[in-house]
Amino acid sequence: MKKPKIILGIETSCDETAAAVCKISSCGEPSADKGVQILSNIVASSADLQAKYGGIIPEQAAREQLKSIIPVIEESLRKAQCKSGDLDAIAVTQGPGLIGSLLVGVETAKTLATIWNKSLIPVNHLLGHFYANWAINHLLGVKAHLESVVPSFPYIGLLVSGGHTDLILFTNHGKFKYLGGTRDDAAGECFDKCARLLDLPYPGGPNLSKLAEKGNPKAFKLPRPMLDSKDLDFSFSGLKTAVYNLIMTGPVTRQPHKKYGAPRPMSPVSMSIQNKADLAASIEDAITDVLVEKTVRAIQTYHVDQLIVAGGVAANKILTKKLNQSISEFSPRARIFIPPPLLCTDNAVSTAICAFYNSKTIDPLKLQANPNLSLSS
Ligand code: KG4
Ligand code: ZN
Repeated sequence: MKKPKIILGIETSCDETAAAVCKISSCGEPSADKGVQILSNIVASSADLQAKYGGIIPEQAAREQLKSIIPVIEESLRKAQCKSGDLDAIAVTQGPGLIGSLLVGVETAKTLATIWNKSLIPVNHLLGHFYANWAINHLLGVKAHLESVVPSFPYIGLLVSGGHTDLILFTNHGKFKYLGGTRDDAAGECFDKCARLLDLPYPGGPNLSKLAEKGNPKAFKLPRPMLDSKDLDFSFSGLKTAVYNLIMTGPVTRQPHKKYGAPRPMSPVSMSIQNKADLAASIEDAITDVLVEKTVRAIQTYHVDQLIVAGGVAANKILTKKLNQSISEFSPRARIFIPPPLLCTDNAVSTAICAFYNSKTIDPLKLQANPNLSLSS
């Protein structure tokens, strides 16, 4: 067995400033990989600021990254009880993301790799999200000698983040085939925009989902875009428009309006709490129906029995419940991996693990942040 590697991960693709130190060892075979120890996992979020403005302002997010990056890296090293000399490599998110935010992480990582004389490993953030599933052993407290609970190849990967909704067939680390994705808005974006239409605070997805717990998912008939298309693509912008039309011009509230008596068209202001909860539940039902249908189709088409889910929307409980139900119905052997909520959203543990398994080092002077990095680049 090779010596474990201690990797400092840095992730600044959007509004989270994250640094983590992981000690990672591999036994060679992907299915036997057991060795991720999270020595520290620090995430500073500027979500409070975004909440004030109802969303992310890229320039502001970048300024917050600048303020946080050094304290966050220092704290990750302190918590891990590591000195720079203990590190084997530095991993950093190269893209995709907001250019101002990415530059802060990338330039910091380049500087540290140069002055500390460390290998520098650029990480594609989309790929990075999936590697949260390799930290499950550590988080569940499974010891290295016990049966591994990390995924083995091949598997279908469903990435559902704020900016991406993709289905991918993975056959090994770094070997994958893109199967389909959204043609317009991502699922997370649809959650966030619909939450705004409902006047819910930022971050939209989790708040909409919380409100949906009290609602009836069948109360409103919403479209399931591209549900029946033969491909593995998605589209969510029409669903967002349908919600907009429903709220602004659509059917009337079922309760007579308090002030005006007669039922009136809904608006976020005139909707009752129950109306809002019902609409939130119906939106969540529509988004998750499409995600589950296409994911199940990918699993059946490619005859694999493992699914790994990644990205912020993977924290959605209804999605998890529906995936578990649908997949166990047709394959009792199937296994689904979903990271704990803490590692679904942006973090640097996933960045460090991804770098370990896909370790293409780069000369620090040559690395450039790439806001448009895709899974085919
Ligand atoms: O992966 P992530 O942290 O950032 C990106 O790389 O985009 O994903 C953030 C997205 C946001 O759209 C957020 O609303 C959504 O994940 N999200 C959720 C939940 N938690 C986070 N959406 C639905 N239900 C949740 N529980
Ligand atoms: Zn992300």
